[in-house]
Amino acid sequence: MSKIRAAITSVGGYVPEYRLTNKVLETMVDTNDEWITSRTGIKERRILKGEGLGTSDMAVEAVNELLKKRGISADEIDLLICCTVTPDLVFPATANIITDKIGAKNAFGFDLMAACSGFLYGVTTASKYIEAGGYKKVVVVGADKMSSIVDYEDRETCIIFGDGCGAVLLEPTEDDFGIIDTIMKSDGSGRVHLHQKAGGSVKPSSHATVDAKEHFVYQEGKAVFKFAVTNMADVSAEIMEKNNLGSDDIRFLVPHQANKRIIDATARRMGVGSEKVMLNIEKYGNTTSGTIPLCLWEWEKQLKKGDNLILSAFGGGFTWGAIYLKWAYDSK
Ligand code: UT7
Repeated sequence: MSKIRAAITSVGGYVPEYRLTNKVLETMVDTNDEWITSRTGIKERRILKGEGLGTSDMAVEAVNELLKKRGISADEIDLLICCTVTPDLVFPATANIITDKIGAKNAFGFDLMAACSGFLYGVTTASKYIEAGGYKKVVVVGADKMSSIVDYEDRETCIIFGDGCGAVLLEPTEDDFGIIDTIMKSDGSGRVHLHQKAGGSVKPSSHATVDAKEHFVYQEGKAVFKFAVTNMADVSAEIMEKNNLGSDDIRFLVPHQANKRIIDATARRMGVGSEKVMLNIEKYGNTTSGTIPLCLWEWEKQLKKGDNLILSAFGGGFTWGAIYLKWAYDSK
């Protein structure tokens, strides 16, 4: 019997309407369009506005879209994994809120936190459920409402992040398509450079933590950049080597959108030209767990059955990794 693999069979995405442009940021903090564009590649990011709206609301839109495209109903989903660092609530899991809102009454779900590598960890986890048998329809959501934890007085972080969500459906296949290989890595000592100080069990939220702005993202940009640029490039090259892939074999690099300079370095290391790099950072900024599935969502129509893709990310934790997959369908 041939090996069961997990293949992506549908993609959905959602970005909020409101565009926070570099020009608007210039009126909020001491920055300018030229600095932001040259240092990051970002021109604007989307922000989820509206009282009572959270990460699950973006996910509902993305998941409903992928279900519609695949022509299936929510109650056919067996498992939903929500990758996020901005859950609706500290508990229960946002995955449970999403399954409730979409009516996925036969699914179980859980959240997975691996920051910007969340979606890759989620797809890797989902693929193991499918390969083990028993799970036929698994949804992986990558969603973050970063505006809920960004300090719009901190020019080093507020220019980077945006809100958005992408989601994929994974199903079993016995053909030679789908998730072929994954390499996932983490190094917890990196947490000092990128984290949220308060709101967890070590330092529960209080007036003092809010006054000290410890409920926002804390990032030492330069240090994170150094680790990201090396590790994302290394792990992408490693997965190519492990699978005997040359640059000509790659149809697309699907990189986490943290900084265009990190993406360029990764592509250079892999030997792939810019025409093979999915890049939408200029429109959405860094949506953390959302970046990679949002790229797949935008490029879906250009993808053909059998295309080799390398997905690659680096993020808080530190976490990083790469996935090699063969695209499993021609989009209509
Ligand atoms: O998503 C996963 C994890 N995150 C990342 O991968 C992000 C990694 N880091 C980065 O992308 C970059 O480090 C940043 C975009 C955050 C910053 O770029 P940088 O080239 O590393 O800038 P820097 O921190 O070295 O700052 C250079 C200068 C500093 O001024 P001085 O000390 O040279 O006078 C900053 O104060 O730029 C200043 N600066 C700004 N200037 C205008 C910092 N932020 C801004 C700003 N506008 N928004």
